[in-house]
Amino acid sequence: MGIAENLAAVNGRIRAACARARRDPDDVRLVAVSKGQPIEAVLQAFAAGQTAFGENYAQELHAKADALPEAEWHFIGALQTNKVKMAIGHAALVHTCDRLALAKELSKRAFSKNLTQRVLLEVNVGREAQKGGARPEEVEALNAAVRELDALRCEGLMCIPPADEDPRPHFRALRELRDRLGLAELSMGMSADFEAAIEEGATIVRVGTAIFGERPRQEGQ
Ligand SMILES: Cc1ncc(COP(=O)(O)O)c(C=O)c1O
Repeated sequence: MGIAENLAAVNGRIRAACARARRDPDDVRLVAVSKGQPIEAVLQAFAAGQTAFGENYAQELHAKADALPEAEWHFIGALQTNKVKMAIGHAALVHTCDRLALAKELSKRAFSKNLTQRVLLEVNVGREAQKGGARPEEVEALNAAVRELDALRCEGLMCIPPADEDPRPHFRALRELRDRLGLAELSMGMSADFEAAIEEGATIVRVGTAIFGERPRQEGQ
């Protein structure tokens, strides 16, 4: 199947999950994860009506956003503070703000470009040592600190549950945390579990392989 067909199938599954959960499909946004995919694949998805794309590497985001500025670009990867300047001005939403030093750098760079950077706080719901994200018990303080930064606007939470566990309890925990903090957005759910994420309240799902197929291998990965 081609990208347009895959996209139509994913959108159909999103609508069906919304119907099961009695949710309005307009309340769930699909971010097509184009990491490692050539720009031609992005252009095919864009031509088929997909407008939001997610990238994991600041340089790749920058290059693709320059090639297709009409799309809405989301940064969803681990972000080093020294790469922040490459993302600012290109990322409509940074999903992976997970520590105060990074939040401060994002705010500083956004301020210097006269922008307000929208961010989500990434939560390490499975407390995995190798993964990014703030610990659940740190999120309230991080949210309060981010609120003090002039050029950032925190809109919600994001998570990547452990690969080998049932994601539902993690999705549920993220939703409860989001509700407690009074935030709007919940970025959760990938190709393998986006329907469960929608049933548990996701407002943004990040789907790569179900749209583009397997990612071509990249050097250094
Ligand atoms: C943070 C994040 N979200 C979503 C995805 C998409 O995953 P999948 O290809 O399984 O849909 C990726 C893939 O790299 C990712 O890193």
